[in-house]
Amino acid sequence: MSKKPTKKKAPLRSRTWFASHDRDALVHRSWMKNQGIPHDQFDGRPVIGICNTWSQVTPCNAHFRELAAHVRDGILDAGGFPLEFPVMSLGETLMRPTTMLFRNQAAMDVEESIRANPFDGVVLLMGCDKTTPALLMGAASCDLPAIGVSGGPMLNGKFRGEDIGSGTHVWKFTEMLKTGEMKMSDMVEVESCMSRSAGHCMTMGTASTMASMVEALGMGLPTNAAIPAVDSRRRVLARMAGRRIVEMVHEDLRMSQILTREAFENAIMVNGAIGGSTNAVVHLLAIAGRIGVDLTLDDWDRLGRDMPCLVNLMPSGKYLMEDFYYAGGLPVVIREIGKYIHRKALTVNGRTMWDNCKDAVNYNTDVITPIAKPFKPQGGIAVLRGNLAPDGCVIKPSAATPKLMKHKGRAVVFEDVDDLHRRIDDPKLDVDPSCVLVLKNCGPKGYPGFPEVGNFALPAKILKQGVTDMVRISDARMSGTAYGTVVLHTSPEAAAGGPLALVRNGDLVEIDVAKRKIQLHVTADELARRKAKWKPLPPHATRGWVKLYCDTVQQADKGVDCDFMVGKSGAKVGRVSH
Ligand code: FES
Repeated sequence: MSKKPTKKKAPLRSRTWFASHDRDALVHRSWMKNQGIPHDQFDGRPVIGICNTWSQVTPCNAHFRELAAHVRDGILDAGGFPLEFPVMSLGETLMRPTTMLFRNQAAMDVEESIRANPFDGVVLLMGCDKTTPALLMGAASCDLPAIGVSGGPMLNGKFRGEDIGSGTHVWKFTEMLKTGEMKMSDMVEVESCMSRSAGHCMTMGTASTMASMVEALGMGLPTNAAIPAVDSRRRVLARMAGRRIVEMVHEDLRMSQILTREAFENAIMVNGAIGGSTNAVVHLLAIAGRIGVDLTLDDWDRLGRDMPCLVNLMPSGKYLMEDFYYAGGLPVVIREIGKYIHRKALTVNGRTMWDNCKDAVNYNTDVITPIAKPFKPQGGIAVLRGNLAPDGCVIKPSAATPKLMKHKGRAVVFEDVDDLHRRIDDPKLDVDPSCVLVLKNCGPKGYPGFPEVGNFALPAKILKQGVTDMVRISDARMSGTAYGTVVLHTSPEAAAGGPLALVRNGDLVEIDVAKRKIQLHVTADELARRKAKWKPLPPHATRGWVKLYCDTVQQADKGVDCDFMVGKSGAKVGRVSH
């Protein structure tokens, strides 16, 4: 059962900055007044931080200044004192080597920025993939009242009369370029047709999945997941979030009252029902670790196992987020799976999850199918274990080829991503469609940063045979917009000395998704001999964030948080600054 919000009015932490008339308070107020803030703003009204990941190099979040203005209006409507602040922004498309290398760093920025400043509550503006978990993780470690506002998806891509999806069609068109079915000039045209409005990827990729997780966890207002970025209702939602956070501060409704075990279980079930990204596994484990909920990979398998996929969206289906919103959005999905979810889980609007969703109307049953006639029978994430992944690995059955879900094949091994790029399209590569492609050293420590390379393209000579899928196994992640029979997050990773490091060309590898098994058919004695000869990779860095990350990052089955950042410290600050 979720706890009810505390009714007693809590003392505002911002008063310790602004309430008195000593020297420190004079300093705190005086410098703020240089922005044109009148004295009455310091009269005891809640101070609300608007945590903004706006950046021109995060194109998915480039409209966040405007979104923040609507949040600000809402805070003022409700008698709060809004203060916007920037945090590290993680843009999926430009950052190298991978944004995931910086998720924990951004979370640290968020946590310390919130705690060190006079905020009573925060609104978290997030959109592009890693910005959502980074903000939730950092805010969870402070545990103030907080509400998430996602930036919303882009409008549907439109190319020569066809709807095209961010990411999903990049993979598809890239393969068509390899086989000669598309020309480079077509690809240039695709660029502008695919990303034609503000917003994040409009497939059910990681950004849309995580926006759905915000709503399913109860951390966002209903319909947060799907309203297109440029739809005026996204602005209204931002304004309503601004109003609501002021009330939440008065109610002292903190993140830990929303982010309960029931909330995480709801989110996992919703992830199954939307056919959500495998990246949600890692991010939810990390957020749970911050707030103190003991979530494990087994929870993902247990709760996702029987959950059908109801949402016919790319990459598993044919529609896009705009269609999802017009069909009724996430409240319809939650209503459909109402017999499974924890209905009484509390959400940021002070109502239960069921109160928010029970009357949702489905306006298009081809986009959101009824649970009695689901789009796909299996939507959840399957967790496989065996001698190749003692701590687990994951596969998304709804994006995989059914006949490959039970498969045994000869391993074709790539030692790292450079080896992959060098040899994958080599006509002399000894590979056939029944082989299992194995990619090593792309995990959290290995790349470093756990990149989305697990859905690597098939060898050109296989694609030319008209084959579109093969079993691929790696310790990497994959883009939420991708598809295929792709086994990911193999733990422990190769760079940490996991069994993946010991696979050799020609070994037989078997997966059986129904039995949740992954097996390397090599004897334990032989594996021990190989392990004795295994040498760790040289360090990626001798200083700075990358060294700290590589020294402390946990494995995929633990959420890839840095070990010293797990948990929360609350919002108390021991000392003043002057
Ligand atoms: Fe930002 Fe896909 S690149 S959400």
